[in-house]
Amino acid sequence: MAELERPGGRTPVPAGWTYAPAPESRDIVHLRERYGHFIGGEWIEAAETYETISPASEEPLAAVGQATPEEVDRAVAAARTAFADGWSALPGSERAKYLFRIARILQERAREFAVLESLNGGKPIKESRDVDLPLAAAHFFYYAGWADKLEYAFPNRRPKPVGVAGQIIPWNFPLLMLAWKIAPAIACGNTVVLKPAETTPLTALLFCEVLRQAELPPGVVNIVTGDGRTGAAIVEHEGVDKIAFTGSTDVGKAIQRRLAGSGKKLTLELGGKAANIVFDDCALDQAVEGIVNGIYFNQGHVCCAGSRLFAQESIYEPLVEKLKRRLETLRVGDPLDKNTDVGAINSAMQLEKIRELVESGREEGAQIYQPPCTLPEKGYWFTPTVFTDVAQSYRIAQEEIFGPVLSVLTFRTPDEALEKANNTPYGLSAGVWTEKGSRILWMAQRLRAGVVWANTYNRFDPTSPFGGYKESGFGREGGRHGLEPYLRFDE
Ligand code: NAI
Ligand code: MG
Repeated sequence: MAELERPGGRTPVPAGWTYAPAPESRDIVHLRERYGHFIGGEWIEAAETYETISPASEEPLAAVGQATPEEVDRAVAAARTAFADGWSALPGSERAKYLFRIARILQERAREFAVLESLNGGKPIKESRDVDLPLAAAHFFYYAGWADKLEYAFPNRRPKPVGVAGQIIPWNFPLLMLAWKIAPAIACGNTVVLKPAETTPLTALLFCEVLRQAELPPGVVNIVTGDGRTGAAIVEHEGVDKIAFTGSTDVGKAIQRRLAGSGKKLTLELGGKAANIVFDDCALDQAVEGIVNGIYFNQGHVCCAGSRLFAQESIYEPLVEKLKRRLETLRVGDPLDKNTDVGAINSAMQLEKIRELVESGREEGAQIYQPPCTLPEKGYWFTPTVFTDVAQSYRIAQEEIFGPVLSVLTFRTPDEALEKANNTPYGLSAGVWTEKGSRILWMAQRLRAGVVWANTYNRFDPTSPFGGYKESGFGREGGRHGLEPYLRFDE
């Protein structure tokens, strides 16, 4: 015990030892050299392909399709046929059986999916294994339960499916975002054309095997891969009745403009710049864990990341000191190592964006802190970073960095915390740390954010609705609210 202790009454920190490597085996994943598109229950050869890589090593993993407008058209036609040929008319209790099967198969194949998710996306295996996979399965279980209860969810409103849903998802939670999109859509009787993000297509392609194992009728779910051009082709397709998009605010706005007046339903889940607000009466060590989880989880590639820390002035110094010390213990490296806390940045493009914003923080006058950290030579990496002395006007306090970079600001009173927290074009999430229940409620009522966590952060559950205010988008995913975008209530 003696060697754990540090002088000066500081929290004991283990020193002088490191973890031995504990890599998860890749053998469970069987990649094909080349993937096509999954349309009408069949693999269709792709006219054009590109290479998808591992961001941790830059090693090529497979060639995947870059879907053309013609291929998107085939996928929409298959979805339309499946919708008309019985899926939409199937009793909810029958549709539910398929969702339950999908959920169970995801659980059975969880390790395979987790390894592939980490390989293709760079996130630590402990997160893919303990967060992404269990939550993806939970989402299918949850919406399976609603499939035959829509009349009860919306009494006297005659819920009916919308038709063909076009779904475009990002690269930060590839399989989980797929689950968030597909589960409510098919539970409600819609059919789907989904496009994963260009840097992380592989778990969506593996999911097609799950669909076959579950014997989901052909065409109910179609998956096409490709970049923004493929996404745009889905948005523009006349045969799509609803678009669900998660990604950048710029693309979200462009989609909204494109769909204006078209009558297509739309939900947008866009960026965020969440405030994590720490009052001086909180459990400080617990708050430090919440701050770390809030911004370094998934390399900060999280739309609801707690990227702006608001510390009450009276505890600013001890809080920042504890935070810096905690950062020294974060292990950055091989995503497949079970001890890794912070994995690889998802792409060269994202790394460039993080570097540029961090540079702007230095130039504008913020103080940067980065713990000692050896980064692998190959691949895309960024050291966990804290900025102090940040003014509200700095770009690092205004713009979404989407990386492991925290900006620390201060406040004196609850009113000031609230005003500063709401001073952002975004409004997806927020965190409040205090022992006082009344203050939690006071803050939660006034924070313009879709989700407010109290004395915790980044907690997800399929039963709870998630979505934004202002430029963070509109529409809710999860919970009973998450059914609404996939239903129409006219006669
Ligand atoms: P993006 O918005 O370009 O990509 C998200 C998805 O949209 C991808 O599947 C992409 O192929 C598709 N897409 C791109 N252009 C499209 C278009 N014109 N029409 C239809 N679909 C299109 O995001 P990107 O470029 O990968 O990341 C840029 C920034 O966006 C990030 O640094 C981050 O700040 C933010 N972002 C936010 C996310 C969130 O969860 N809210 C997720 C991903 C990125
Ligand atoms: Mg983009």
